[in-house]
Amino acid sequence: MSNNLEIEKRRTFGIISHPDAGKTTLTEKLLLFGGAIQSAGAVKNNKIKKTATSDFMEIEKQRGISVATSVMAFNYQNTQINILDTPGHKDFAEDTFRTLTAVDSVILVIDVANGVETQTEKLMEVCRMRKIPVIIFINKLDRYGKESFDLLDELENKLNIKVTPLSWPIGMGEDFKGVYNIHKKNLNLFSPNKTSISTNLYSINNLNDPKLYEIIGEKATKELREEIELIKGVYDEFNHKSYINADVAPVFFGSAINNFGVQELLNTFCEIAPSPKGRDTNLRVIKPSDSKFSGFVFKIHANLDPKHRDRIAFLRIVSGTFKRNTFYNHVRLRKKMKFSNPTSFLAQDKSIIEKAFPGDVIGLYDSGNFKIGDTLNEGENFIFKGIPNFSPEIFMELENLDPMKSKQLEKGINQLMDEGVAQLFIQQPGNRKIIGTVGQLQFEVISYRLEHEYGAKCRFNPKNYFKACWIYSDKNQTIEQFKKSKQKNIALDKDENLVFLAETPFLLRVAEQDYPDISFHKTSEFKLEV
Ligand code: G4P
Repeated sequence: MSNNLEIEKRRTFGIISHPDAGKTTLTEKLLLFGGAIQSAGAVKNNKIKKTATSDFMEIEKQRGISVATSVMAFNYQNTQINILDTPGHKDFAEDTFRTLTAVDSVILVIDVANGVETQTEKLMEVCRMRKIPVIIFINKLDRYGKESFDLLDELENKLNIKVTPLSWPIGMGEDFKGVYNIHKKNLNLFSPNKTSISTNLYSINNLNDPKLYEIIGEKATKELREEIELIKGVYDEFNHKSYINADVAPVFFGSAINNFGVQELLNTFCEIAPSPKGRDTNLRVIKPSDSKFSGFVFKIHANLDPKHRDRIAFLRIVSGTFKRNTFYNHVRLRKKMKFSNPTSFLAQDKSIIEKAFPGDVIGLYDSGNFKIGDTLNEGENFIFKGIPNFSPEIFMELENLDPMKSKQLEKGINQLMDEGVAQLFIQQPGNRKIIGTVGQLQFEVISYRLEHEYGAKCRFNPKNYFKACWIYSDKNQTIEQFKKSKQKNIALDKDENLVFLAETPFLLRVAEQDYPDISFHKTSEFKLEV
């Protein structure tokens, strides 16, 4: 098969949601439809308890589990589906942001009763920034929730994206009768069913079809007709190009736990979702059809066994064909590397692969060569853009509790930062280490892992910073002046970029006003553009 056919049949995407909206359940049902698992519960049972914020074993379990379920690949009707898992826990949001750099589209799950929640807004902001096409699945229609039209308004207002419903629910909760597929013009009747994946489909020619009346009754028929009329008046008809350009998000309704609406979602997804897209580099855009292999690392996972320090680097292939035992160029290290046991994530078992294509994610065993964002290619000196660091929200100063173990601490911290567990900022004088994270949980992970994997003990002392802003100016003098006046708040990130640690939004605004020649960035992404 030519590379173009391989590319065409791939769909690499992520499922995102606010915790509890039903991401795990939907993932599991998609795997059931794809035949990748045989029974419900396989993914679910592996999920970390959401309440376990201070249970180390739970954290360890999560790390193990997410290796197994980080990428789930399966074939469905001649389409190769690659689902990239995104942690729902808000403390791991940064992981999710980075994973979004490796997907070509997203399915966003919304709980019908809760509507748009905080985590959803943050995740959608990243999707908008990266222009990732989004399909929305409104879940839990077997329960009472918000009115569908209100929900669509809420989606548009809070997520700042236009929506267009492709299916429409008939009732909800106990009165939930099913969904009318506006796209395919058929009716899928609801029957609660947690185990099988059968559907109850009726095709109807149009909404005046008398069959409709017999199937769902007079009242529901009347309502459905009126609502579909209204939809036609208010929402534009589905336009594939607008979806691909991330200007409009098609919306589906269903109930993941009841396998309801999931197959329509999957079928439509295969039909409309984009095949692997190219990625921008500091030199040019690399297209999937380019003949030479290239890819980037978006995630690194440490080995669960502390005695074995090897890690798995997750590489998204952007172009060409990746081949086992072939030398490639590690651009940052200017080093040739080959891989004897690259793994794929087909179904649930990891197996060694000989070849992989654009859109695929492969696991590379690594003994410390990779950092998140690294580029691997066939000899050219480009690096992929767009794996930014986002400003952390919690900052702590790291204190070494055992001076005899400084070296171990240093090594451990560097390796954990390479994995993207948190961000390190170094402050002078004194080489003070400030660790920044999105959530509290990471500090527990760090001190636990430093102790168990590196034999180093540490303590974290809270710092009162609100944001880390990467700063840039082409006027050296201005930068020097700024550094001098804000010495207490200046640090270097791991790549020695200058960072301003602002204590309050007010002080950040003041700094921006006082130094108009300096640009302040809440992500490190601007670096490659300057
Ligand atoms: P998440 O990954 O987004 O955090 O959500 P998850 O799939 O774990 O679902 C959260 C809860 O919502 C689960 O209940 C799950 O069973 C339930 N759920 C998912 N889809 C539906 C649906 O279509 N209808 C209804 N009524 N519930 C749904 P739980 O009580 O937290 O877990 P469990 O005891 O059911 O495993």
